[in-house]
Amino acid sequence: MQSANSEISLQLGVDFAANLLNPLASKKSGDDPIFFWFSRFISARDAGRDAVNGTLGSLLDNSGNLMLNRTVIDSLRKQKGHDMAGYAPLRGIPEFRELAIDLALGEHRKDISASALSIATPGGCGALYAAANNFADPGTKVLLRDLHWGPYQTILAENQLTSTSYPLWGSGLELQKALEELSQSQKRILSWLNDPAHNPTGLTLTSQEREQTLDAFKDSANKNPSIGHTLLIDSAYHFYSEDPYSWARTISKLHDWPSNLLILFAISCSKSHTIYGMRTGALVCLHPDQKFLQKLDEVILHTGRGTWSAAPRLPQVALSQIHADYEDEWCDEKDTLKSILKARRKAFNEELEKVSLKALPNHDGYFAFIQCQNPEAVCESCAAEDVYLVPLKGGVRIGICALPRDKMARVANALANALR
Ligand SMILES: Cc1ncc(COP(=O)(O)O)c(C=O)c1O
Repeated sequence: MQSANSEISLQLGVDFAANLLNPLASKKSGDDPIFFWFSRFISARDAGRDAVNGTLGSLLDNSGNLMLNRTVIDSLRKQKGHDMAGYAPLRGIPEFRELAIDLALGEHRKDISASALSIATPGGCGALYAAANNFADPGTKVLLRDLHWGPYQTILAENQLTSTSYPLWGSGLELQKALEELSQSQKRILSWLNDPAHNPTGLTLTSQEREQTLDAFKDSANKNPSIGHTLLIDSAYHFYSEDPYSWARTISKLHDWPSNLLILFAISCSKSHTIYGMRTGALVCLHPDQKFLQKLDEVILHTGRGTWSAAPRLPQVALSQIHADYEDEWCDEKDTLKSILKARRKAFNEELEKVSLKALPNHDGYFAFIQCQNPEAVCESCAAEDVYLVPLKGGVRIGICALPRDKMARVANALANALR
């Protein structure tokens, strides 16, 4: 029988690989599917073909350039050298930490019956990583919805976690059942929920669905007082939804907060402030016990110190100034971007209807999703027409954020041809 080591070496075609890579590292393989399909678009475009890019999760103008919130870019440009190049405090600059709580909770902050704490992280991904690292036990399962952003699995795997899921659409009973099952088998439950403006579908939960979800966590926490429950709201796209603070509104109605329930927001400034590569975000923690929050302050500080050190200073300084002095200007720019997305979504859904296709219910944000049996084959067929989309488990993601309105008919037709 071949040893695991020699199997790995054989796979890689080099005999020393397994001696250098640890067993976890040697399991890491494959390219990121989103960047792989994006690179295919680039090759087609560079070869002079009239290629259409629906791959990336970035808001692009009609010529394919990144759309920027000018207020943010102006503020970044005018900062001093020290703020451009200096370290930020490990927990983030105080003004940004305050701002992150406001970005999560908005006007509902004062109505929430818990205290809040935030720590700056390198983007929403940093916040997700810190949550995986601290609120779940290695070897256990994190609760997701069945359709979720692919890199969740990478972040979980990096923390020696796997996942279990409940359906994106359901009666609510599936969530209750999943919580019941997890509370029988593990000491801590961590769940990630990307809402509003879900990636990859564009779905936004209704207020009733949000309440039902929160009640399920509260009930499970009450029934299982020795099991820690952490619900993380992934707010990567919330500023492109109709009600960015919808979760804060729902949480403000939560009374009799169980002490074994922690609510987190993974704040990402990538899309809301169009600073994708500047790696800016925060983990916002809500809990009624101030002393426990003080403990979290140290816990997350350690995770940051041991991985990314501190989040970048420049965007924290710039965003703090914008929200203190130019919030209306930022908001106007952001609303313009939001209206472009809305028009693109409308155009996409209309063109789909013309070819008798339907995306999964989609309301806000950057993406739409069409369910199908063989997403790779569907994307290959679209690529043959120089329309580039992303195959995911169970369907195809259409990055309407990157697609001009006048290309939607071509995308819908390519999908119809592929699916017929
Ligand atoms: C669902 C979801 N969550 C979190 C993130 C993290 O974003 P970032 O780390 O760029 O802030 C993204 C980015 O695309 C996302 O799509």
